[in-house]
Amino acid sequence: MPYLSPALNVMIAAARKAGRGLIRDFGELENLQISKKGPADFVTTADSRTERILIEELSRARPGYGFLVEEGGAIEGKDKTHRFIIDPIDGTTNFLHGIPQFSISIGLEREGQLVSALIFNPVTDEMYLAEKGHGAYLNDRRLRVAARTHLSDILVASGAPFLGKEGRDVFLTELNGVIASTAGMRRFGSAALDLAWVASGRFDAFWERNLRAWDIAAGILIVREAGGVVSDMDGRDTMLDSGHILAANDALHRTLLDLLRGKS
Ligand code: IPD
Ligand code: CA
Ligand code: CA
Repeated sequence: MPYLSPALNVMIAAARKAGRGLIRDFGELENLQISKKGPADFVTTADSRTERILIEELSRARPGYGFLVEEGGAIEGKDKTHRFIIDPIDGTTNFLHGIPQFSISIGLEREGQLVSALIFNPVTDEMYLAEKGHGAYLNDRRLRVAARTHLSDILVASGAPFLGKEGRDVFLTELNGVIASTAGMRRFGSAALDLAWVASGRFDAFWERNLRAWDIAAGILIVREAGGVVSDMDGRDTMLDSGHILAANDALHRTLLDLLRGKS
């Protein structure tokens, strides 16, 4: 069984409540796909409502904690030592298209250090949890990153910059190096779940640039607690600020840093 700190219990309760709403919305979407305008407005509403539920529930249990959330931005709290970093729906495009690969992502920082993390896919009921120093779990099962080290064996996930997003040329160069050397790559559309899947060993590695703190805060702790290594593309710990991230087991992480920088 995972070690559940009081804070993590609070996060689980909030995510389960918000997740029930998301499942209802996801079911409703099927009826909206066929309308010409599509379900975009509906999804925007679902996104905001989910964020509001999470903030309400977490503030009730932890009054004064600050927030960094996708829609509402930074919300200062009286307690300057704690901050929740939240993406209410990571994988919005999947959600919009009725693809069940999206998640609620909640990270908790104490004195600037990630201490508790949760990534929850309400459709599959997969809840990834980590507490600093106590390991990472998928529901009740302890997680460990995959041990594969040969590039020819590994499955790598990433995110491709879409319309309006910077970094296409860099991404295509990196992608070229990765697909030429590995067993395959996937672009599943939720950076949070991509990281959770590195922690669980489904993916051997994940890299992406220009993400935001709420996409990756929870995933960073979950991968680390599963024994993985997470850095930016220069091997440094700037991910929450730069949005650049590479996650893998230790040996593979070093190999991929070189590969992505065109050194191998
Ligand atoms: C997106 C997802 C996606 C990544 C994008 C993010 P959103 O978050 O994490 O995998 O490639 O860069 O913006 O918009 O679905 O919350
Ligand atoms: Ca996101
Ligand atoms: Ca989002």
